[in-house]
Amino acid sequence: MRLTIVAGARPNFLKIAPLIREIEKVRLQGVNISYRLVHTGQHYDENLSKVFFRDLQIPEPDANLEAGSGSHAVQTATIMTGFEQELINNPCDIVVVVGDVNSTLACSIVAKKLNIKVAHIEAGIRSFDMTMPEEINRMVTDSITDYFFTPTETANENLMKSGVHASTVYYVGNIMIDSLLHSRNMLRKPTFIAAHDIDPAKCVVLTLHRPSNVDDPEHLKMLLDTILKNTRDYHIIFPVHPRTKKSLDAIGINDSRLIVTEPMNYLSFNYLVRSCAVVVTDSGGVQEETTVMGVPCITLRNNTERPETVDIGTNELIGDDMNKLEVALTNALDGKWKQGAIPDLWDGKTAQRIVKALLQISSSFTE
Ligand code: UD1
Repeated sequence: MRLTIVAGARPNFLKIAPLIREIEKVRLQGVNISYRLVHTGQHYDENLSKVFFRDLQIPEPDANLEAGSGSHAVQTATIMTGFEQELINNPCDIVVVVGDVNSTLACSIVAKKLNIKVAHIEAGIRSFDMTMPEEINRMVTDSITDYFFTPTETANENLMKSGVHASTVYYVGNIMIDSLLHSRNMLRKPTFIAAHDIDPAKCVVLTLHRPSNVDDPEHLKMLLDTILKNTRDYHIIFPVHPRTKKSLDAIGINDSRLIVTEPMNYLSFNYLVRSCAVVVTDSGGVQEETTVMGVPCITLRNNTERPETVDIGTNELIGDDMNKLEVALTNALDGKWKQGAIPDLWDGKTAQRIVKALLQISSSFTE
């Protein structure tokens, strides 16, 4: 079986790493499966891309489409044009896309129009918020996916409700967690923490990159002021995404407790998450990682496509209600937070289940 595996943006790299490791493992056992890894180039900064390949030991991509940044239409179209040529030159049996970024959408459409089967890892999750580009990407991708690899029961239910046939749904669990569990003994203290003699337990980790939180500098300033006002003598560690940097530069906030860094590598970032008092975020993946590590997570969004992290995990949605943010920060720093549990099949064995299913699918091609 020949796969083409697509990855474009930071969270994608975490999802393909375990898959590739598992494919390499079964290949060594003589199983007939090969892959081409295509990087669309959606994320191209060293810190958002190369560092993740290194930390997660992902092989060099076979092709890089170098799509880069642009408006949604420009970025999506550039990826589509590059990926069409890639697939024409290098035909395959199944295109594997992951997550919900523009690369996921673009490459699934191209594959489908070339009559190539599409497998979607992390299929079926929904925020039901059509103002999020990711929700549109999820819905379009799932409307043309052939094989759905789902992380949760809720994702299965969402797909059933949209008319997907149960026989095409493979409930395999959360592949992000494969990466986290694989890396747990390799997490490393960031050098600036040691250099400044900061106690990681007296830190709040902050990540923000959603347009609704960061594109308006005034809104970003209000968030940062509220966080600083309600976190006592704790340090706020804020690795800043390029999108957020533009607004942050505009407001010019300066406080000795606020430590602004470049986007952090995976191993250092999760070291901090594991050790800190509370995480404040608008990321999808961080909601999942905090649930698995049992760390309080305050999510600055009104909804989540990962409801399990709220229902049984350690996550709380507070939207943009600053009163709720104040209360949540106080509770977290006082140690008054729900305990949380880990959702089923977030166990580090998702890639194993996916490769097994792909091999079954491939045997049905030849029957
Ligand atoms: C993308 C995904 C989002 C994901 C996030 C993780 C979409 C629609 N969004 O958002 O779901 O959570 O990645 O980080 O696919 N930029 C750089 N260097 C880079 C990449 C981007 O400076 O390597 C800048 C761009 O110029 C642009 C901004 O960052 O100003 C946004 O990049 P883009 O890839 O369009 O979306 P993200 O916000 O990163």
